[in-house]
This record gives sequence, C-alpha cells and structure tokens, in this order.
Amino acid sequence: MTNDIERVLISQQEIEAQVARVGRRISEDFRDRNPIFVGVLKGCFIFMADLMRHVDIRCTMDFMAVSSYAGTSSTGAVKINKDLGQDIEGRHVIIVEDILDSGVTLSYLKGYLLNRRPASISIAALLDKPARRRSDIVADYSCFEVPDAFVVGYGLDYNEQYRNLPYIGVLKPDIYS
Ligand code: PRP
Repeated sequence: MTNDIERVLISQQEIEAQVARVGRRISEDFRDRNPIFVGVLKGCFIFMADLMRHVDIRCTMDFMAVSSYAGTSSTGAVKINKDLGQDIEGRHVIIVEDILDSGVTLSYLKGYLLNRRPASISIAALLDKPARRRSDIVADYSCFEVPDAFVVGYGLDYNEQYRNLPYIGVLKPDIYS
C-alpha cells in the first residue's frame, strides 16, 4: 500500500497537533451550547474520532452518509445514503468532513440541514483544497490547506483504498491515471 504513495504531505504528528488545536477552539466557541457534531461518512471517521477526544464540552454526535464521487471526479450529484437519527431544530450543528474540495457536497448538505431550522451550522474540515472550489462555501474550522494533488489517508480514499494510512499522502499519478 505505501508503495503507491509518492510522498507524505502531512505527517501523523502534524495532524495530531492541528486536530487538537481545532478541538480546543471548538470547545471554547461552543461551551454551554450543547452542539451536535454531524460526521459525514465515510471519510470523516478517523478525523472525527480524534477530534472528539479534544472536545471537552457537553455535546452529542450523529452521522450521515452521502456520496458524490465516482472515481476521481465529482459527478456534481449528492445522494443521501444515511440521514440523521434525530431532530436538529434549535441545535448548534457542526458538520465534520475530511475534505472540502469542490464544495458541492457541503453546499448541498448545509442547505439540506438548514431546512430543519437548527440554531446554527458550522463546518469543521480536516483538509481544505481551495483551488478546486466550485461553490462559495468556507470551512469555519479547518486543520490544513492542501494543494490540488490527489491526497489519501487518515480517512480519505481512492476507490475505497488507503483510508487506513495514518498520515495524508499524495497518491502516485500512475495509480489513478
Ligand atoms: C468526499 C469527501 C467529501 C466530498 C468532498 O466524499 O468525504 O464528502 O468528497 O468533495 P466536494 O467538496 O468536491 O464535494 P466521497 O463522496 O468521496 O465519499 P467518502 O467520504 O465515503 O470517501
């Protein structure tokens, strides 16, 4: 598996430090607000698990599953495969995503959840790739800005592989071309 990686873009140590920083900031910003963290599966699973261990306030968690990608490029269509199991009316919602890329997924999701009249919606993304943005959505909390390279690991996949790498790596082009 590691032979398919061209280079390590973000090390385990760097991820750990930034995730801890974002967890502390969210804790300060949402103290006494009992936010609900909504993880977007599957990419969020490692980031969310680590992030939550740095959030020291009362909060709840739920998950959604959406899909928008086939292979390497966005189809532009977002499908809800698993919805929330609870009402979010009046709640402070924090969407947890692995990557904000074109922004298609999060724009759709934000609109979808806003219809349920939450008190607020914020976005926490591990990675932000602004070069590829197609909508004007921004992350309220992000750990790293990344260049327009094919990144995998720490939850991010290519055709469902590489999610278990403990770092963020750049995939060798011959793997996906
Ligand atoms: C990835 C990622 C985001 C989305 C970001 O999900 O987890 O949800 O793409 O891309 P966008 O900003 O261009 O919309 P994917 O559909 O690959 O599913 P996964 O989380 O199961 O890997």
